[in-house]
Amino acid sequence: MSGFNRWLVRTRQAVEKALRSAVPPLSTRPASIHRAMRYSLLSGGKRLRPVLCCAAAEACGGTVRGAMPAACAVEMVHAYSLIHDDLPCMDDDDLRRGKPTSHKVFGEAVAVLAGDALLTQAFALLAAARPRARYDAADLTAELARAAGSRGLIAGQVADIEAEGRECSEAALYFIHAAKTGMLLRAALKLGAMCAGATAGRLAVLDRFGFALGLAFQIQDDILDSTQSAGTLGKTPGKDAAAGKLTFPAFFGLERSRELSAYWTGEAVQALRPLGTCGETLRALAALILGRDH
Ligand code: IPE
Ligand code: IPE
Ligand code: MG
Ligand code: MG
Ligand code: MG
Repeated sequence: MSGFNRWLVRTRQAVEKALRSAVPPLSTRPASIHRAMRYSLLSGGKRLRPVLCCAAAEACGGTVRGAMPAACAVEMVHAYSLIHDDLPCMDDDDLRRGKPTSHKVFGEAVAVLAGDALLTQAFALLAAARPRARYDAADLTAELARAAGSRGLIAGQVADIEAEGRECSEAALYFIHAAKTGMLLRAALKLGAMCAGATAGRLAVLDRFGFALGLAFQIQDDILDSTQSAGTLGKTPGKDAAAGKLTFPAFFGLERSRELSAYWTGEAVQALRPLGTCGETLRALAALILGRDH
């Protein structure tokens, strides 16, 4: 196993352990909401956002342990966004990570509330974080709120829904992808760096990396939706085309989308140059994201 792969296994294990203790146990009343929260948060997933957060912290001289509250908070916002994204009023999906979606198991009301509770708990976790010099818990909280809010992830989700079945511009496509996916990836990286007490210059480097990586990530997600099986994907494939979603394959075709995904990965790697060898793990993660099959 390469040094990077060992790092990835170890970091993912640390993330899984921290996530398990970041939400109330099943014995906490009402059991139904905690069961639903744990079902979606602890049901697999690639954990790319927390891993990026930890890698950014290390790239800036910090530790995985120091970044863990922020890493978990970002993954909790991600888990909430997936529960809501799958609801019948949104993408109406039955399958997530190879298992029935939250609303299929717990009903819509509990699924909505489990999403709300994960989002809320994410901020409680960040508020208790003790980042290094330069930043405090309020800075971390503000960063995550900005990324998750109506100028960030939610902006992208609204634009995504409103673009369904309509002729839209390339600029609209880029806006959706940069917002619904890019904003949280950027926040994951910046929060990791803030936990390490990184300079504003370092944060700007990671922000440029995250912007390009976010685009590459979501273009890849669109490509996988139209090329993979349910078994590999853990989601129902072909949903984007069926719903008339504004995606890269719909707008540019598959071949050009593959080129663009590689292009934005290249841009991401370029952005890391000021980090020198400290950017090695982040570079490897960008390659992993481009090469993934689910
Ligand atoms: C899926 O994200 C939703 C998008 C923003 C494209 P991931 O592909 O990271 O999903 P999990 O967490 O690994 O299931
Ligand atoms: C989801 O994008 C983005 C967020 C959840 C914010 P998609 O709708 O493409 O994600 P999947 O394909 O359902 O995972
Ligand atoms: Mg969606
Ligand atoms: Mg979806
Ligand atoms: Mg998708």
